[in-house]
Parts: sequence; C-alpha cells; structure tokens
Amino acid sequence: MGFLQRCVGRSRCLLLLEGQRSLGSLPSSDRGQQYSTGVAGLQERTLIAVKPDGVQRRLVGDVIKRFEKRGFKLVGLKLLQANEGILTEHYHELRRKPFYQEVIQYMTSGPVVAMVWEGYNVVKTSRAMVGETNPTEAKPGTIRGDFSIHVSRNVVHASDSVETAQREISLWFRSNELIDWDCCNHKIMYEH
Ligand code: TYD
Repeated sequence: MGFLQRCVGRSRCLLLLEGQRSLGSLPSSDRGQQYSTGVAGLQERTLIAVKPDGVQRRLVGDVIKRFEKRGFKLVGLKLLQANEGILTEHYHELRRKPFYQEVIQYMTSGPVVAMVWEGYNVVKTSRAMVGETNPTEAKPGTIRGDFSIHVSRNVVHASDSVETAQREISLWFRSNELIDWDCCNHKIMYEH
C-alpha cells in the first residue's frame, strides 16, 4: 500500500472514531468495511471471560498474556460478580441441558473477569486458543488444555461465532465501556 493510500485510510479511520465513539454497537462486518487499513475484518470482536475457577486460581494474568502475545487488542475489561439474570441470558441456548442449573450456580459463585478482544478472525482464533469444551479433549497449548481438568471448571468462556460475540458483548458491556484506541504495532501485525 502506498503512502497516500495509508494517509487517506488513516484519516478516514480517525474521522470515524471521533464521530462515533462506540463501535461496539455496530456489527463487526460494518466496522470492518468502514476502516481502510488494507485488510478487511480487523475490528472483529469477541467476548472472553475468565470464570470463577480461573479468577480463584489467579489465572487472569495468564489468560490476558496469551491474547496480548498473540497480537489481539484489548478493548474492554472488568471484574464483576455476575448475577443470575445476565447468566440466564448468556447461557440461554443451554437452558434444556442437564448441567444448566449447575453452570448458572457455579458462574454466580464468585467473580468473573469479562473482556472484549479485537482483531482479525478473533472469534475463531480465540476458540482455538481456548480449546475444546471438555479439558480432557483440549490440546496441550490451549488454555483449557493447560489449566483445567474437568468440564465443569474449564477456566474460560469464548464466544463461538461472530453473531454470538455481538450478542454477548452487548450483554456484558455498555457501549461506553469499550475503548477504541490505536495500537502502536498495528502496521507490523497486519500490513505489508
Ligand atoms: P458450551 O457452550 O457447550 O461450551 P463452550 O463453553 O466451549 O462454548 O457449554 C458452556 C459451559 O457449560 C462449558 O464451558 C462448561 C459447562 N458444561 C458443563 O458443565 N458440562 C457439560 O457437559 C458441558 C458440555 C458444558
């Protein structure tokens, strides 16, 4: 990409940011199209949550480190005691599963760290980083494969599709809790 194209792309990007502080409310595909960085889909976002077992075991730092080192951008972060209301919405699709009540009870048993991470293909990549739902099947090198043993205590949640991510992000975060910021390694990570 030439110098002029970069400048035009960047000023478009800044103009959008000034005029529209909350991009979290937009579908990621729309956000991706509005940025002219040369690579589509850079503003995809996903919800990652460190569950009560992960917080109790002081694994929050390890989880954050993996996403930072991979190159994703943190745009939202909070520690909270989740109530039953948010969890019943979050796990709505599991409501008929035999383990549903236990999951809700467990997820309300202690604080959770909810995060929004942004970047190219972040939904798919973070599912791979997190590993299989059941830690017995999660490969070494994945978060669940390295830090957990039993399915009921599998350390992290990661959205499983772009649509689910949008729904979950707006459930756990208000739009003004998501921060748009310029990452200094953006060009090194994405452009050529
Ligand atoms: P699910 O959405 O199927 O998996 P994932 O978290 O990988 O998207 O299940 C949600 C959570 O429910 C899962 O992370 C742990 C818990 N769970 C159980 O406690 N027992 C089970 O048999 C399953 C499948 C899930």
